[in-house]
Amino acid sequence: MKTVTCTAPVNIAVIKYWGKRDTGLILPTNDSLSVTLSQDILHSKTTISAAKEYSHDRLWLNGKEEDITKNKRMHNCFRETRALRQQMEQDAAQRGETLEPLSSYNVHVCSENNFPTAAGLASSASGLAALVFTLAKLFDLPSNMSELSRIARQGSGSACRSLFGGFVAWEMGSKDDGSDSLAVQVAPETHWPELEALICVVSDEKKGTSSTEGMQHTVNTSPLLQHRIKEVVPARMAEMKKAIHNRDFQTFAELTMQDSNQFHAVCLDTYPPIFYLNDTSRAIMKIIHEYNATSPDGKLKAAYTYDAGPNAVIYAPKENMREIIQLIAHYFPGSSDNYFVDPYKLFTSTQ
Ligand code: DP6
Repeated sequence: MKTVTCTAPVNIAVIKYWGKRDTGLILPTNDSLSVTLSQDILHSKTTISAAKEYSHDRLWLNGKEEDITKNKRMHNCFRETRALRQQMEQDAAQRGETLEPLSSYNVHVCSENNFPTAAGLASSASGLAALVFTLAKLFDLPSNMSELSRIARQGSGSACRSLFGGFVAWEMGSKDDGSDSLAVQVAPETHWPELEALICVVSDEKKGTSSTEGMQHTVNTSPLLQHRIKEVVPARMAEMKKAIHNRDFQTFAELTMQDSNQFHAVCLDTYPPIFYLNDTSRAIMKIIHEYNATSPDGKLKAAYTYDAGPNAVIYAPKENMREIIQLIAHYFPGSSDNYFVDPYKLFTSTQ
């Protein structure tokens, strides 16, 4: 029996992935780029044991046993990593060496998040990244992160970006087999230590429309998405990479907010429309724009972004964070029937 435990971080996209050109292999319709958040605050933790005595694969998610056979995406990750392990075992046998036949053992997987699942906080990204990384360690696979990102992508698209720290691009690739649809690090976490992220948990309820389901409705019905993937994202990706390299917060902030807004516009352009933002989300957007307007030199001080849920992620230079936390706490001192932003639910995190 062999047991391995690993954690993987959350990533929050600043250029959003929304739409697949291949739903089986999880191949996206555009490139995307994200910032990986510190694991100290938000992470998924996965423990996997493999033993020849286990009669079947079993899975516990946040303490509750789930039927692993119904989870096609996890199955994709098992299949891919087991195939690589099996190849290693066969290569070793040819050299006259023996490797433990782990690829033929069943596994027990136990995975948990230390934050709300499916509330638009990228739980699938960190969860599937943790699964693939732990399987890779269990099977002693060579740790080529881009190769592992190809596997994690087949668990959940955004998971491929959680295998790297810092600033990470998922290059959509053009091949039908997905072999060039991989994540690459644009810059390490040490590159821009002044940049921080603040997560405002507006709601920790499970979202109404899952990303997977929502994005395919968008692909099938939104004319605006076609404009976004052809005209907007390619130029934005280039500009965003340049802004990150130059630690240019002005451009980074502007592009981040514009891309979040266009992603939600594309959701609204979906027919029937998809709504992820609520009144609190929109109020936070307004607060950030007003806060930016108070800047004496016209320089942006903060940027918001929202994934497939109402929770705000605010990126800002460290020097502005205290002021931003005070501002949010001032406008949302407690809870009401529909929403809350409790200061204790605010996580600050250096990327
Ligand atoms: C809005 O990666 O959750 O967070 O590939 O179907 O699992 P699947 O979707 P998922 O979608 C994430 C969408 C997003 C934007 C992003 O993270 O880039």
